[in-house]
Amino acid sequence: MRKIHLRAQATIGNVGPGYDIFALSLENPCDEIKIGLNDTNKIVIKVIGDNQSIPVLIDENTAGLAISELLSRKNISIGVSLEIIKKMPSGCGLGTTGASAAACVFGLNKLLDLNLSDNEMIDIARIGEVASGGSPHADNVAASLLGGFVLIKSYHPVEVLKLDIPEFPIVLAIMKKSQRTTRGFITYDIGEEKLKEQIAHCSTVIHSIHTKDIEEFGKAISIDYIAEPVRGAKIPEYHKKKRKILDAGALGFNISGGGSSVFSVCSENKIDEIADLMENEFALYSNFIEVIKTKTSNIGIREI
Ligand code: HSE
Repeated sequence: MRKIHLRAQATIGNVGPGYDIFALSLENPCDEIKIGLNDTNKIVIKVIGDNQSIPVLIDENTAGLAISELLSRKNISIGVSLEIIKKMPSGCGLGTTGASAAACVFGLNKLLDLNLSDNEMIDIARIGEVASGGSPHADNVAASLLGGFVLIKSYHPVEVLKLDIPEFPIVLAIMKKSQRTTRGFITYDIGEEKLKEQIAHCSTVIHSIHTKDIEEFGKAISIDYIAEPVRGAKIPEYHKKKRKILDAGALGFNISGGGSSVFSVCSENKIDEIADLMENEFALYSNFIEVIKTKTSNIGIREI
């Protein structure tokens, strides 16, 4: 049986204003994925270390769906055994389901010598996201696969650009979302002024990465008129807490992907203070799990 053992790290989808088109890769936390090939013609999924009710039925699991999409697109009949070793909480907007889907496509590409391009792997892996949020968004799977900061240049066809991102300190307050997905409540109907502002901030995010300007980056990622109003409304006193954390010296603050986790961007010398403050602000919320200190990373899925 041919096998591969991978590490797939958390990602922050949207990164403020880039709803479904921006994501960035984090050094930590991460899951591990073991994939083996056999001749049973079946996909079998096992989740280890899980107390999070992750479905193991193929069509309900992002990785299962991504594997079956790959096998059907490439007309391959083979058995796949998959072990997802959970080290990070799912359902918190950390891109963990996307990470599993991306790791499976990455692993099968290697085990089966398929020679898929990055764009093709992303296009297949994003189908897995339908199992978690009902929509094949490509941001998280792309950042997980490639590392760094990714921007989706096109959805038709899928084309992704990876930008190397400077090492920016990130503090995450990890919180579970109270419902599976809030995507259905999000509207693009935000009016001309806000839409222009949102697009302008997307440009600033990209520019700030090119110029390695953490202050400009922090400012630009703190704006979002599309997803943040919907997801922020699910977190008690979200806007008040955001203001307090920014006033205390965080350079940027927003919701990570589908929430309810939130993240701050800050300078190295502020990271402990901001982490303590975020702990104080969010620890009493019933969906709170923990605060962790991490940083942006240019490394994607890798073999271990
Ligand atoms: N772009 C996706 C969303 C990311 O906002 O729903 C989910 O992590």
